[in-house]
Amino acid sequence: MRRMVAETRLHPADLILPAFVRESISEPVAISAMPGVYQHTLDSLRKAAVEAVEAGVSGIMLFGVPDEAKKDAAGTVGTDPDGILQVALRAVREEVGDDLVVMSDLCLDEFTDHGHCGVLDADGRVDNDATLERYAEMAQVQADAGAHVVGPSGMMDGQIGVVRDALDGIGREDVSILAYTAKYSSAFYGPFREAVGSSLKGDRKTYQQDPANTRESMRELALDLEEGADMVMVKPAGPYLDILAKVAESVDVPVAAYQISGEYAMIEAAAEKGWIERDRAIMESLTGIKRAGAQMILTYWATEAARALR
Ligand code: PBG
Repeated sequence: MRRMVAETRLHPADLILPAFVRESISEPVAISAMPGVYQHTLDSLRKAAVEAVEAGVSGIMLFGVPDEAKKDAAGTVGTDPDGILQVALRAVREEVGDDLVVMSDLCLDEFTDHGHCGVLDADGRVDNDATLERYAEMAQVQADAGAHVVGPSGMMDGQIGVVRDALDGIGREDVSILAYTAKYSSAFYGPFREAVGSSLKGDRKTYQQDPANTRESMRELALDLEEGADMVMVKPAGPYLDILAKVAESVDVPVAAYQISGEYAMIEAAAEKGWIERDRAIMESLTGIKRAGAQMILTYWATEAARALR
């Protein structure tokens, strides 16, 4: 009876797998704060992509982890056609073709030595407009490498418009933009910093949103749509379900939510201690995100959850 009258049903195709790929490693490296998640080699990434396809997952979002020595203030490897993220995009496309929607994180923090999502001005503050120029180039390089969708996650003002123009400028109207619309300055990103080996000191409060606020997210939403966002995202997911519901009610584009590293870590850690039922908690967390209005959910459990749903 419950099955018959359920108002919310998860489906494998709702799920998108975020994946990390690291340069110069011969074996996958475990991320201690995210048990079960790895920094992939190119080979293990290919395998993970194939497993995701087999499980029915619809997309993969790639993050590149370059050699520490290659990071610089401008995040140069982020726009190098032979940079790790571009190499990984080509590898995944070669492996799975169009069986997965291949997405790329479009941000500088994985590539800068200071760990910020943009380039800095003389006073050490993130320079919004100079960063936009880097994002434009990055979008083109990622499109060339095979991204179906780019995900600008740096929260610079005007980033969606600049990325759209940059893609159209090289004839890539076909590449879609998943806009990180409501991205909050969150403590729950903690484990991600380990996952990408980020060297960030300080915080992202000058460009990510204040957890106390709703209105600025709605304003970001209007701007992103006006600038050409094809899909919009709320992040983190669990602590922001009200924002997600509001966004989902007010748009006519697909809405995504990102269940982030800290949300993953909390459930895994509590389960490891025997304090909660892991599998039920995972499915409940995903069901809640879908019920609130997400059509697509980025989750590190994507492949496992998709298998369980089949
Ligand atoms: C920025 C980016 C971050 C995440 C995805 N893209 C980190 C941040 O904004 O601090 C976090 C994802 C997660 O925590 O799982 N490139």
